[in-house]
Amino acid sequence: MKTLKHEIKSLEDWQKVIKTLLPHLKYGTILALSGPLGAGKTTFVQLLAKALGAKVNPRSPTFSLVRNYSLLTTNYLLKRLVHVDAYRIEDEKDLLPLNLDEELAEPGTIMAIEWPENIKKWLTHQRTPIIHIDISLQKTRRQVQISAEAGV
Ligand SMILES: Nc1ncnc2c1ncn2[C@@H]1O[C@H](COP(=O)(O)OP(=O)(O)O)[C@@H](O)[C@H]1O
Ligand SMILES: [Mg+2]
Repeated sequence: MKTLKHEIKSLEDWQKVIKTLLPHLKYGTILALSGPLGAGKTTFVQLLAKALGAKVNPRSPTFSLVRNYSLLTTNYLLKRLVHVDAYRIEDEKDLLPLNLDEELAEPGTIMAIEWPENIKKWLTHQRTPIIHIDISLQKTRRQVQISAEAGV
């Protein structure tokens, strides 16, 4: 997968990013979403979950580190999307109770991670494909860069 860039001018434009990504998603794939607060990371994950047939509840004000979406997709290999928000992870030891390794190993799982910078060590130990999605935000201008590690 070569590096791809998208200019995001509206909420609808996230669909362009989703369309680009869909053919590259297979079970075990990790999406690492970088970008400042307000860039649209959570929005993107929720739109992706919807595009894959998940029921997405309106965003609750309660913060949760891990959310699971059951996918109802025509691609039977993808069964669930695990959404991790690592914003408040200060020490990677805090990851242990989340059992992310087991979560990722569940058949048919893809995982989307916000603030991957906070769990770098965990990420470098993963053997499954990682797709990096970097979102930049200047005022209301959003740019997305998608790049994958070799083999994706
Ligand atoms: N393409 C976009 N155009 C306009 N507003 C957007 C866009 N993407 C996200 N937003 C808005 O920006 C706000 C923050 O988005 P959010 O997904 O919570 O960001 P993050 O998770 O990166 O902090 C939300 O109100 C969301 O609706
Ligand atoms: Mg967020």
